[in-house]
This record gives sequence, C-alpha cells and structure tokens, in this order.
Amino acid sequence: MSVRTPRLPRPSRARRAFGAAAVTAVAALAAALLPTGQAGAAGTTLRSLAEARGIYFGTAITQGDLGNPALTAVAGSQFGMLTPGNEMKWDTTEPSQGSFNFAPADRIVSFAQGNAMKLRGHTLVWHSQLPSWVSGLPPVQVKAAMENHITNEVAHYKGKLYSWDVVNEPFNEDGSFRADAFYNAMGNGFVADALRTAHAADPTAKLYLNDYNIEGQNPKSDAMYNLVKSLKSQGVPLDGVGFQAHFILGQVPSTFKANLQRFTALGVNVAITELDDRIQLPASTTSLTQQANDYATVINTCLAVTGCVGITQWGVGDADSWIPGTFPGYGAATLYDADYRPKPAYASSVTALGGSTGPSPTPGTSCKVTSTVNAWNTGLTEDITVTNTGSTTLNGWSLAFTLPVGQTVTNSWNASLIPATGQVAAQSTSYNSTLAPGASTSFGFQATHTGNTSPPALFSLNGAPCTTA
Ligand code: XIL
Repeated sequence: MSVRTPRLPRPSRARRAFGAAAVTAVAALAAALLPTGQAGAAGTTLRSLAEARGIYFGTAITQGDLGNPALTAVAGSQFGMLTPGNEMKWDTTEPSQGSFNFAPADRIVSFAQGNAMKLRGHTLVWHSQLPSWVSGLPPVQVKAAMENHITNEVAHYKGKLYSWDVVNEPFNEDGSFRADAFYNAMGNGFVADALRTAHAADPTAKLYLNDYNIEGQNPKSDAMYNLVKSLKSQGVPLDGVGFQAHFILGQVPSTFKANLQRFTALGVNVAITELDDRIQLPASTTSLTQQANDYATVINTCLAVTGCVGITQWGVGDADSWIPGTFPGYGAATLYDADYRPKPAYASSVTALGGSTGPSPTPGTSCKVTSTVNAWNTGLTEDITVTNTGSTTLNGWSLAFTLPVGQTVTNSWNASLIPATGQVAAQSTSYNSTLAPGASTSFGFQATHTGNTSPPALFSLNGAPCTTA
C-alpha cells in the first residue's frame, strides 16, 4: 500500500509546476542576506519554502478579512494560494435564480492577484450554503439549474483559477451518497455532469472533488475512491481530490499517507484543502506541542506523496477560524495566534518544509514596540522605538516585523532593513547595538505604498515576540 506508483504523468507535472527555480533562488537569497545567527528567521515564509519543495502553501480568507491589516500582511506574505472562505458559494454567487453576484469573490481574487497568489475556487455544487430556491425546485429542473450555475460561475473566473472544488461533500459517513437536491434529482450522475460542465466552461482549471473525514481509510474514503475510479474509467474530466483535513488534536489518521497514495495511483492529484487542528480550550503548552507535531505530520505526508500538490490552511489565524463557532469549546486550530504571532506549529511547519526559524529567543528577552507613521499619497515614514523589557542586556539586536502589503522600504536610519518588503528584519548598527534592560532605541525608514499605510505588525526582538502599544 505504501509503495510508490511510478506510472503517473499528472503528479510529476504538478510537482514541477510548483517547483519554480526562481522561487528557490529568491529563498536562498533571502537566507543569505540574513545576519549570522538569524539564518532563515526573518525572510523565511511558508510560501517560499513550500514552493522550493514543489508544493504550495495556501490559506482561506473571507471578504471581511480584507479590512484587517495584520491579517492581510500575513496572508499576502506567508501564503502562495488563496481560497475564498465563503464568497464563491452558491448562496453568495446566485442568491436568486439567474441573478449572479460575483463582487465579493472578485475582491478576494484581486487581493490574490495583487500578491501573486494562485487561487482555488470553492465551491460549485454543495448541499450547504445553498439557497432555498435550489432545494425547492422540482427535481426535474435541478439539472438545468446546476449546469447554468456552474457555467456562469466558472466562465466568470475563466483562466484566473488554479482549480475548482466542483463538488463538495457528496458522501455520508457510511459511504452512501448524501441525499441532497442534486443526488435526489439526478442520482450519482450529478457528479460527472458537474465535472463535464465545469470543464466545458474553463478547460484549464484543475477540477476537484472535495470532502472531509476521507483522510484515513474508512467507508467514506472507500466510497470516494470508488467514485474517482469509476469517473476516471469513463474519461470524465477530474484532476484531483481535496482532503479537507479538519483534524482533532492528536488524531491525524495513521493511514493518511497510504490513503493519499491509493488515490494518486488512480491518476489524480491530491491536495489538503482546509487544514486545521482543533484543540480543546484552553490550549496548553502540551496541546500546542502536540499540534506542532500534527502539522509537521500533515506536511511530511504531503511531501512524501508524489502527486500531493499542496496544503491549504482554513483561515489565517486562530481569531479567523470557523472552529470556535462550529465546535464549541474548541479552537486554537491554526498556525497563528489571535494576534498573528506564529505558534509552535508554525515553527514545526517551517522545519518540515526544510526551513529554519532561527535560534530560539535569547532567554530573558522580552520587548515593547511603539511606532508612528506619517503618510502621504504614495509614501510614508515610520518611526519605531523598541524597549528591552527583559532581564538580559542584548549585544546586537534584530527586530523582525511584517510590513503591510504594498509597502516597500526605500531607505532607513539607525538600523539596516532587509528585505524591503514582507517579513523584514531591522538590524542594529555599530552605535546602537547594546540594549540594556529597560533601555529603548529608535530607528526609522521611508517606504512607498499602494494605499495601505498601516504600521508594521508582528514584532519580535531576537526571536522573542514584542508587545505593541
Ligand atoms: C465554512 C466557513 O469557514 C464558515 O465561515 C461558514 O460559516 C461555513 O463554512 N467545509 C467546507 C467549507 O468545505 O466551505 C466550510 O467553510 C468548512 C467545512
């Protein structure tokens, strides 16, 4: 079961598609620019590391997230693939029959394009977030309504999306088909019909079936396996299977890898499409450590399976996740805490992808940062004061932070800044390198911007996260 299948043209193509040499070179350059002792810390992103390994690392955001500068700074720099969390679902895109609304999803598509991220379309045919006019149709009208919906939505985004989740969650836990409006009207033939309709509207988008609780081998994943096998044997256009991967702490199935491999052996790609790992609250050091293990397991599994094209986390930080609202008592399910500080699972993910988060913080280091920004139409200056609130004298310091999307540093004073965008590290100079307990030091920079004049976020001093005033 765990034997590699050598006869797959599709997986190797996809692996190459995400393994661009240019990306590797940029990552290597960023690492080379980092000061000694900080190798791989600032400047390392999930995105660049994943792409260097031939896969993507993505996230999901919703319309409301676009107004959160800390969130968009992390999303636009750390992730290379984007899924709209809700905006491409039927209740948003065709709330009443024949009247389409793509404006919310278009805003997310623009954000992705502005950050050179690829996009996963989610989702065309699903029993949930389905307007009642569809479920209320006489069965004889459902096929035409489904085909019209798919044709219009896929055509609207033609050429812009990497992939589509064409059918979402078709199965019950026992492997029987879910008796939703589509199955009731068309039987299981709705799946092939949906895939063919989507392919006709955008022949270049990769077409996926997506479901949850199919990560391990069980009756539900058996049903998905049999469906994929049957569709492929009929020549139905199907490129991949999405494994949502809404995991519970410590419960990544032991059959995960073998299960992914039996799917790729059918000639489809596989992707982790909605990864999170929920913890019973409050999270503890022990649970966060287990979560770090779980994330590393998922990443290592995808890396070990030829034809696993990438991993998408569902939401950016713990505050954005759907988990607390859907599973009361659970949360802390993502790589970032509610203030977008990387959690232990972030560090383990970076390590699994072959990167390094640098040395652990100097013991006794803690810090406070204040910043002021003065902006005009295309530029801004930023003054930053960092205070050593810890108990250790720092002989040489590096303040890492995330610049908002669209800001590019043009010059700086009292510190050197590298790189000029994204995850930046400000290095002390010869005359301000000593920072005693209680002491403060100030530096600044000038930057261009494209409209977002928010201050930087996520400060850490020599690896220790800072509070901001
Ligand atoms: C969730 C969204 O995150 C929530 O905001 C929304 O209220 C419900 O849907 N499986 C899926 C996703 O395929 O579309 C779901 O997203 C989570 C479960």
